[in-house]
Amino acid sequence: MRKPIIAGNWKMYKTRDEALFFILKVSDGVPSIKDVDSVICAQAPLMRCLIKRQGDNLRIGAQNMHYADEGAFTGEVSGPMLKSYNVDYVIIGHSERRAMFYETDEIVNKKIVAALRNDLIPIVCIGEHLEERENGSTNAILHSQIMKGFVNIDAKDMKKIIIAYEPIWAIGTGKTATADLADETCGYIRSVIGEVYGADVAEAIRIQYGGSVNPGNIDELLSKANIDGVLIGGASLNPDHFIYMTNAAMKRLK
Ligand code: 13P
Repeated sequence: MRKPIIAGNWKMYKTRDEALFFILKVSDGVPSIKDVDSVICAQAPLMRCLIKRQGDNLRIGAQNMHYADEGAFTGEVSGPMLKSYNVDYVIIGHSERRAMFYETDEIVNKKIVAALRNDLIPIVCIGEHLEERENGSTNAILHSQIMKGFVNIDAKDMKKIIIAYEPIWAIGTGKTATADLADETCGYIRSVIGEVYGADVAEAIRIQYGGSVNPGNIDELLSKANIDGVLIGGASLNPDHFIYMTNAAMKRLK
């Protein structure tokens, strides 16, 4: 049984006071880490304030990192810096970073290697554009992102990685993929992992769906066999919604 993982991606939202208000409100409301991994991925300036108050059940993640451990890279954050703040997770290859900050699959791969080297759990985002979905090339795109993004990652490390399937046309648009479509596509991703790494890795790896997830659609998404959790943008900014959505994962256990 794969432990569900519910992660919020705050993107470039929330000031320190807003983050403080959020964490004080949700800390006691998220389920036990024994049952569900609940994560907030925030911007670097908010880390200290969140980490100090994260409690046992809510873990903190970053939204990006550089692949070098240190160096003259103005404005970048390294794996050892995140680790020194007790950060557990890092989102890598979000479609916004691929589109706006020119991250290629090769860069994504270097960042995954750097995250693992620093004992951070990578949440690796893959997904297709609307025209790719419409012209039937979704599987080919995902296959290519997997083959290039996970070069030189061995089976042992693959089991630690979380893959977030985020169709780009569903992000911030209010257009969620139907639960069946999301499940089918996460199933395809799992089958590719199985072909490359074997059945035990495919069985172990956790795959999230992301794209306009909210309290109204999360239950159906999480009821699907291949969806082990969700990566939530906008709806994760609201503390009550976040509490509801982390607890929704408890129903999946039953
Ligand atoms: P929304 O939930 O706002 O569509 O964002 C999804 C996302 O990009 C999470 O990483």
